[in-house]
Amino acid sequence: MGQPHYTGDHIRKDFPILDTRIHDKPLIYLDNAATTQKPQCVIDAVTRYYTTQNANIHRGIHTLSEAATAKYEAVRQRVGAFIGADANYTVVFVRGATEAINLAAHGFARAWIKANDEILITGMEHHANIVPWQLLCEATDATLRVVPLNETGELNMDEFDRLLNERTKLVALTHASNVLGTVNPVQDICAKARAQGAVSLIDGAQSAPHTPINVAAMDADFFVFSGHKMYGPTGIGVLCGRTEWLERMPPYQGGGGAIHSVTFEKTTFAEPPRKFEAGTPHIAGVLGLGAAIDYVSGIGIDAIAAHERELLLYATDALADIEGVTLIGAARKKVGILSFTMDGIHPHDIAQLLDSHGIAIRAGHHCAQPLMQFYGIHATARASFALYNTQEEIESLANALRAVREVFA
Ligand code: ALA
Repeated sequence: MGQPHYTGDHIRKDFPILDTRIHDKPLIYLDNAATTQKPQCVIDAVTRYYTTQNANIHRGIHTLSEAATAKYEAVRQRVGAFIGADANYTVVFVRGATEAINLAAHGFARAWIKANDEILITGMEHHANIVPWQLLCEATDATLRVVPLNETGELNMDEFDRLLNERTKLVALTHASNVLGTVNPVQDICAKARAQGAVSLIDGAQSAPHTPINVAAMDADFFVFSGHKMYGPTGIGVLCGRTEWLERMPPYQGGGGAIHSVTFEKTTFAEPPRKFEAGTPHIAGVLGLGAAIDYVSGIGIDAIAAHERELLLYATDALADIEGVTLIGAARKKVGILSFTMDGIHPHDIAQLLDSHGIAIRAGHHCAQPLMQFYGIHATARASFALYNTQEEIESLANALRAVREVFA
């Protein structure tokens, strides 16, 4: 592995939790696809809000409220800039990628979908990008179609071309698989969807923290991601949508803040994004997300992507070398996610034994049961990398996996 594009030690000092010891060993945190750790600046932004800035937004005619409103709205601008959303898009704050997809599915079901329409997803989706569309299809008698993958974990684009047709109203897929790491050709897919008159939704939960995003260049109609997977707080996420669609979609929830006027006879709604942000939002979460975006931008998303790419290549070689290890997912373009199985050892046992070495990974079906079925397995072990991980940590992972194999020998 070449020189990292920034100083690993310097980066690691920004994350207080990385000093933690687990079972008297230094924490090696490789469960970043589930959630990343938080830099001190994010923790400080949340603490500062509650310590010195706390007020409700969009309501108060007093200094604290006006300042909190300005900070909240400034993060909306920074989020848009971070993901390349131009004037055609609106950023809506939600709880996370899951809520964002549910919001879009709800709006679609109510506004456009009818019997015999088709929704096209892929065989590598997280349950969050399957179940909302299933619910929509059940409610409308539309049909869910699934683009299959190849054994390497890449989409079968011939099948995509075949399945996309004049009945397809929406194409929803992940930008990067949370199990395989596969990066999908979303720009090509969004262009084909548009040419067919279908709307596109891209799940960026596993891409936005790890690779540069430009929603306008991608030409996606909707792009969603979660704050907590990109060094921000839990409970905050983003639905970035083409404003023309958001204007036509009914609100997901009714309540204060989302309305223009209410009488007992009729309610008229505010313009997006307010229409979709009923109730008091997660103000501290938004401010924390703003700090996370500033932090990531300060390091540079290109430098982060390069660092994680090197970690992925190093880990792929290191694990492939271990007897009995099978890597799942060999796409040509991947983010830093490495799923694997070990002959005769259940992934839960792998995770538990690694934990005794201080190493956190995830084991299970990763909320992608159809993908597990495709590979004929119930679960994988998964190591996933972030900007603070190091080559030394991957060496420790490989050594610990050899020790796991000895336990079961
Ligand atoms: N979707 C998250 C993961 O893959 C929770 O771990």
